Parts: sequence; C-alpha cells; structure tokens
Amino acid sequence: MHRVLITDSLSPAGLKILRETPGIEIDDRGSQKMSAEQLREALSQADGVIVRSGYKLTPDILKDLKRLRAVVRAGVGVDNIDLPAATREGIVVMNTPAGNTISTAEHTIAMMMALSRNIAPACATLKGGKWDRKSYMGTQLAGKTLAVVGLGRIGLSVARRAIGLEMKVVGYDPFLSQERAAQEGIELYRDLDELLPKCDYLTVHTPMSPETEGLINATRISKMRKGVRIINCARGGIVDENALADAIEAGHVAGAAVDVFSKEPPPTDHRLINLPQVLVTPHLGASTDEAQELVAVEAAEILSGFLTRNEVRHAVNMAPISAAEMAEMGAYLDLGLRLGLLMSQLIKDSGVRSAKLQYRGEAATKKTKLISSAFAAGLMSSAFAENVNVVNAEMLARERGIEISESLSNETGDFSTLVSATLVTDNGEITAAGTIFGKQFLRLVKLEQFQLDAYLDGLLLLYRHIDKPGVIGYVGSVCGKHSVNIAHMALGRIKSEPGGASIAVLHLDNEPNPAALAEVAQNDAVQEVQLIRLPSAGAPLPWAVCQ
Ligand code: NAD
Ligand code: MLT
Repeated sequence: MHRVLITDSLSPAGLKILRETPGIEIDDRGSQKMSAEQLREALSQADGVIVRSGYKLTPDILKDLKRLRAVVRAGVGVDNIDLPAATREGIVVMNTPAGNTISTAEHTIAMMMALSRNIAPACATLKGGKWDRKSYMGTQLAGKTLAVVGLGRIGLSVARRAIGLEMKVVGYDPFLSQERAAQEGIELYRDLDELLPKCDYLTVHTPMSPETEGLINATRISKMRKGVRIINCARGGIVDENALADAIEAGHVAGAAVDVFSKEPPPTDHRLINLPQVLVTPHLGASTDEAQELVAVEAAEILSGFLTRNEVRHAVNMAPISAAEMAEMGAYLDLGLRLGLLMSQLIKDSGVRSAKLQYRGEAATKKTKLISSAFAAGLMSSAFAENVNVVNAEMLARERGIEISESLSNETGDFSTLVSATLVTDNGEITAAGTIFGKQFLRLVKLEQFQLDAYLDGLLLLYRHIDKPGVIGYVGSVCGKHSVNIAHMALGRIKSEPGGASIAVLHLDNEPNPAALAEVAQNDAVQEVQLIRLPSAGAPLPWAVCQ
C-alpha cells in the first residue's frame, strides 16, 4: 500500500481521486496544524505527500526520510520546498503550474480595483454605522498605465485583463521577446529602471529567487511617479516590505495591495498591515473553488500516477534519465546546459526570439533533443530559479514565444564533435560553440565570430578588446593587484594578425571585486568587461536524478 500524506487542506475532488485509486491510502492532516516533529513523523510514514504553502520542507525536515519518494505541490511556487535538499535525498518534487493562473490574475485585478476605490475601508466604515461619502474619493483605472513585472502565465493574464479595462500596459520580463509582447499589446522595456517612471500602477509576477528578492526596493520605488500604487500577489519580499512602508508613510506611494508576505502568517504588528493606505489579503490569490479543484485534481493525479505507474509529470528537480543514458549522454547534457547558462548571461536584457542548435560529428549521433533541452534549461534558469529542468525547459521557452530548432550534420569540421548555439535576440544574433575533449573535458571553442579554446566552468572574466601590445599585461597586473588568480586564459581574434577586434576569456580562481572590473574596463583598448558564472567542473546536473 502506498501512503499519501496531505499536509494542507485539499479540495474534496482531489481526495476522491486518491481514495478511489487502488493501492493508495491517505493520511489527511489538512485540518490540523502540525509541529515540526509531528510533520517529520507523518512524513517518515509516507511514500508521497501533497503540500500547499502551509509548511516549509527544509533540509532538516527532509533529511533521511527513507520512505518518502515524492512531494507534489498543489500550486505553482515551490519556494517552501528546499529543492537541492529534496534532490539530495532522492525525492522527486512536482507541481501543478497552471491550475491557479486565472484565479490569481483575477485576484490581482480585484486588488487593484478595490485599492483604487477604497472598497475595504469604505465598507468597514459603513458597517461601523457611518455614512461617509467624502473620505473615499477614488481613482479611475481607464487611461492609467499599469507596469507588469514578470510576464509569465499570471503576468500575461493580468495584462490581458488590464487591457480590457482600457489601461495602457507596459512590461518588463527579460525572457519575453518584443514580438510576443507586441502581439499581446504590451509595451516592453528592456531596462526595469526605465519603465518605473512610466506607470501609475505596478504589479509583480516573477518567481521568488535570489535575483528577484527585493527587486522593487527603495531606490526603484524612488524612481516611480509620486502617487503610484503597487500590487504584490506573487511572493512576499519581491517588493521590499520596509521600503514600501517607508514610501507610503512619506507620501510617495499612494497605496499598495498585498496578498503575500515575507513571513506567513505575518506578525500582527507588520507595518504594511497597519497602514490605512494598504489593502491586504491572507495569500488568497489561488483561493477559489475552481482553482483549488483544478490544482487538487492535478496534484492527486500526478501523485497517484507516480506511485502506482512510475509516471513523472511537472517535475521541478529531476529529469527521468536512466543510468545508462546518463553514462552515455552526461557530458553532452552538461555541455548543452553550460552553453545555455553562458548565453543567458551574455544576452543580458535583450529579449530572446529563437535558438538554433547545430550538432556536428559525434554530437549529431546522440539524443540531440535531450541536449537541446539541457541547453534550454540553462538558458531559462535565471528566469525560473530552480524550477526549470530538461523536462520542462523547452515548453517554458515555447510558452514565451522562443522556438528552439535543431540541425544535424555528420561531417566533422575542425572538431570531431561540436555543439553550436545561435540565439536570435531583439538586439541581433549571438553564437557560442563547445566541444568535448576526451570523455568529459568541456571547452568553449567559438564565441561570436572568434575561435578560441576556453574553459566552460567556474568564474570566467570575459572582455572584448583591440589586440595590441600591453593589454594582456595590463589585465594581468590589475588581477595581481587585486589578488585575483588567473588559472587559464584564452584569446580569440578575427584576423590572424594583430590590431583587430579580439576577445579574451580568463578562468579565475577567485572573484574580482567591482573595483578590479572597473580598472580592467579603464584600459583604452578594452571595450566591454563581463563576469560569467558557471557551475564548477564536474558539478552534477542540478535536475538529473537517475532512476
Ligand atoms: P511563470 O513562471 O509562468 O512566470 C514568471 C515570469 O517571471 C517568467 O516569464 C519569467 O521570465 C519572469 N521573470 C523571472 N525573473 C524575472 C525578473 N528578474 N524580472 C522580470 N521578470 C522575471 O509564473 P506564474 O505562474 O506566472 O507565477 C508568478 C508568481 O505568482 C510566482 O511567484 C508564483 O509563486 C506566484 N503565485 C502566487 C499565487 C497567490 O496565491 N498569490 C498563486 C499562484 C502563483
Ligand atoms: C501558488 O504558488 O500556487 C500559490 O501561492 C497558491 C497557494 O499557495 O496555494
């Protein structure tokens, strides 16, 4: 018998599916609040668990749970589950990404409208016995500009609804192309700071990740128009809570609508909850009968399929790769992933339109679809934090209008095996190609039009320059002065003679500080300096748990 633990309240339709699946028994704790010890005890008896956001599955909670094989998140955000810890323990984490999109978008619009028309305080005053028609003058939405930060499933649904309300929608999402944004009627900005002064309302819909924590901070709020209104129905902390409270108290921000908090439940003396200009709800974005039924049914189907038929759907921390496939393909998946990670950092904020992968020589005889997916996982990972893997990456890219195509050639060129990736972005094309020396040594052999032989791991300092005497020495001495050790250096130039455009890729042992980078950039011959971060050599693929 497979035992399924339910930690948070789950819609009856989901429970029914589990009850009716032969071979499954349920431990439903949805109506009680468990202590950490009780949660661990219940998890230790379970083969699978369905969670919402009521509990945090920390490394301590997940450690050495011999029986637990799967966690299913009935909802989108898996930020309450420690994914590396789950992966380490061999626990597959799956989610239900789309079931609550519409409800959360509707909640965002409801919050924006209620905030604009003072619905909550006016209602409270009238119920308190006072007929006050003077204190609650509102603002109209039609004709106003809404900025949507994060244009994924929910962000786009909010944008479509706001356009229906005759609002102008501007947006920022590094992974949406201009073309796709234009189709949706959204004016897309490539620089978040440029968008900020343009809006009357701003709503965030990014995932919570180290990149998005505090994305809307005091400096950014100060760039917005006086009287702006801010909405957060994504995750607490994407908008810095103290910075928002300060700006409201200072009269710069007119009001805010907040559904999510850094700590949930928030303390009763939370600054935002106690400000009259702030409309709050207790994480209700997905709390509709329809959304809860959809996510509960999907979660139940996913977990019963996993436990009774070994099916894996919407996995966020693994790819179903067999041990044999991994032995044959591991280095190629790693190469694809690293090329994707490299290119996602090279393109900065230019929207990606498509990616073309070319496989030559031995690479063309491998399962190229899987390598392309690993590339897509690398490319998309900064947009989706830890939620992206070889299983879902191509689909996530396609949802953002990014087509990934492949071409194969058995002919070998200068290398017996070569994977070459070209990204078409709003700012033009960029190409990078890599090869495998021996069985596992990955090398970057082409970047843009430059041939080179650079490492594809760790910390890389990349700079473009005019190839003239003294530049390498200058950069070397700056690194020395700032105690940065250079482990390897690769140079590429277009013409074989000196004097032309060149690129250098330095493999560093330690991180240069901003002053060192600025000093490198000061040299007249140096045009652009960039630090690229890749996994260390031989690091395991983040999502590949061998089955
Ligand atoms: P999604 O993955 O479909 O979309 C997220 C988008 O954010 C992507 O398009 C991505 O490119 C973009 N993005 C990533 N980093 C960015 C950055 N630094 N700047 C701008 N854009 C960036 O996710 P979704 O399903 O739309 O969910 C969005 C958020 O809503 C998540 O945080 C999720 O947890 C939350 N959520 C909240 C509720 C609720 O009850 N309040 C319900 C569902 C989802
Ligand atoms: C989600 O991530 O799906 C939402 O926050 C809703 C929920 O927690 O149920």
